[in-house]
Amino acid sequence: METAHRRRPGGPRGRLGIGNLYEYDRDRIGFLQRSQQEYGDVFRYSPSTSFVLEPGLTHEILAQTNRDFGAESFLFSGTRAALEEFTKVAWTGRRASRPGLNPKTVALLANSLLDRFRAVANSSNEKEVDVFDLMCQFTSGAAVNFCFGEQNAGTLAATLDRTATAIDAVTNSSLTYPRWLPIPRVRRAVKADQMLRNVLSAQVYEARQTGVSSDAAGLLQVLLSVADEPLKDDVIVEILHAVLRGARGTPAATLTWAVRELSLRPDIVSRIAAEARGLETLTSSGQFSSSSLPYTEAFVKELLRVYPPAWILEREVRHDTCLGEWEFTAGERIIVSPLIVHHDSRWWSSSPSTFSPERWLSGTMPHARHAFLPFGGGPRVCFGRQFAFLELTIAVAALAADYTIQITNLDTSPTAPQSLLLPRGLRSRIQCRASYA
Ligand code: HEM
Repeated sequence: METAHRRRPGGPRGRLGIGNLYEYDRDRIGFLQRSQQEYGDVFRYSPSTSFVLEPGLTHEILAQTNRDFGAESFLFSGTRAALEEFTKVAWTGRRASRPGLNPKTVALLANSLLDRFRAVANSSNEKEVDVFDLMCQFTSGAAVNFCFGEQNAGTLAATLDRTATAIDAVTNSSLTYPRWLPIPRVRRAVKADQMLRNVLSAQVYEARQTGVSSDAAGLLQVLLSVADEPLKDDVIVEILHAVLRGARGTPAATLTWAVRELSLRPDIVSRIAAEARGLETLTSSGQFSSSSLPYTEAFVKELLRVYPPAWILEREVRHDTCLGEWEFTAGERIIVSPLIVHHDSRWWSSSPSTFSPERWLSGTMPHARHAFLPFGGGPRVCFGRQFAFLELTIAVAALAADYTIQITNLDTSPTAPQSLLLPRGLRSRIQCRASYA
């Protein structure tokens, strides 16, 4: 291997004792953009952490995940053995659940997603609500529906919501907490996580005893029906846990951005509403896909470009390795940022600072290769992206066609996003205009 021209990335030195922590925490996005301008696409944040903000290198990191780079997908940072075990489980589950996740099967859920969205939105009719909380009610129910069909959907969604608050307090933090740390927030999170796993274990046990009926189809049924190498209960629980956790906050964040943008852009609302006429007929056809509503789909893509909820992704370097002209040593952390790449004008054919769904409708790819990555990439690419597109398109179409949105506080731009990019605290009144309210 040629190493003569390899070098370690440079970067801002920061302050004595705390390095760049203060500047980063004050304005995370601004800090990254300023550091990129000064030091280039690859820079060192601290002795053990670097940012990589170029699409080709980002792709290389994501594509080499599980080989050269480890992913911290475990709840809090577990041991290496636990992480490796999780990776194995995630892979088995991904293969096993392929039939449950293909676009045809996912399309069958379209009508119940529409009903679910309307039920949640109507429950808050005219009340001022926290938009993210409201959207989580929808995505929790949708996630449970996706995993278990309609059976027990209400109770399970409530458990997911209850446990999510305690777990998110730890996983959404900028700090990494070890599971054993004896502080109340970690104890609460571990307890909630255990409670969620217990509930899922009981579901799996019950489904094995009673057999899952076909009208209760869902991912669980797919996992239980794997014939070649049947999955053990704890593996199924791990998969359901990952899917339920992945399917709640992230799409809810995108829908919170959708509410914000729609409230500011009546022209977009009119176009989506016109396209969404007859939404019910479309969703009940069993053939619905996000491309059934091309403008709405373009709006969703633009939301995911401008506000990718998973705005940074972390990897750990597994062994000394090189990336382009840079070298990294085992144990270092590398962070990539879909957000920064999505806003870098070098990679976009028209200005990335303009919010423009139209960029997705020209028939040609509006960005350089690997420059649009809201769902990550490589072996850990989002497991639920087809389902996510479906639920986001349906919810946005229903919002624009059937509701009037009034935002009560717009000043919620996140300069210091934690694990999710989110207009935290956004409140609104969502009023139903349609006759079924
Ligand atoms: C706006 C919607 C969503 C976005 C932007 C999103 C984004 C992502 C990203 C970026 C990753 C990769 C993380 C990494 O590489 O470290 C990921 C993983 C994952 N997502 Fe999503 N996601 C969304 C919705 C969903 C939904 C609806 C589901 C389930 C139905 C889901 C399930 C998962 C799971 C289980 C993983 C972990 C995959 C693995 O470790 O192999 N996500 N998601």
